[in-house]
Amino acid sequence: MAKGIVVYYSRSGNTKEMAEIIAQAMNDAGLSTECKPADKVHADDVPAYDAVVIGSPCYYGQMAAPIKHLIDELVSRHGQLNGKVGAAFSSSANIGGGSETTVMGLLEAMLIAGMVVQGDPQGAHYGPLSIGKPDDRVKQQCERRGQRIAALTKRLFP
Ligand SMILES: Cc1cc2nc3c(=O)[nH]c(=O)nc-3n(C[C@H](O)[C@H](O)[C@H](O)COP(=O)(O)O)c2cc1C
Repeated sequence: MAKGIVVYYSRSGNTKEMAEIIAQAMNDAGLSTECKPADKVHADDVPAYDAVVIGSPCYYGQMAAPIKHLIDELVSRHGQLNGKVGAAFSSSANIGGGSETTVMGLLEAMLIAGMVVQGDPQGAHYGPLSIGKPDDRVKQQCERRGQRIAALTKRLFP
């Protein structure tokens, strides 16, 4: 059975809340999914998952250091995420504060790893973004993203 993981870093809880909604939606859509903070995830364990979803607060327009650290550690497993499903999300303080560039940085790393990244023609095209604590609209976008990740992963890894 296909498996997913949602990895996040969160100091004040906003990104964590998004992560939990996405993971719940993935589980509800039939993809067995774990949700873990980055410091509880070892790079060696990541290739065991068919879908890897990463969330980071926007720090100066980029991913936070603990997430970058995990991605850099994945070099020891380079090639093993090829063809796996990737997705990203972010939280920031301000509209235009850099959450979209944070998501794009995560997606760039996923593409370098050979992962399959699906956009969304509606709503959050690149991945869910929250300004501060996720409101109802963001929560819906997180649910939708989780459903779409699960659907794609189940198609690729039946
Ligand atoms: C070191 C640092 C850098 C930040 N840089 C930005 C930034 O460039 N743009 C922005 O809008 N918010 C920035 N923020 C605010 C966080 O992105 C925002 O509070 C986010 O929701 C925190 O997520 P969390 O609750 O998951 O920790 C920064 C916060 C910190 C601590």
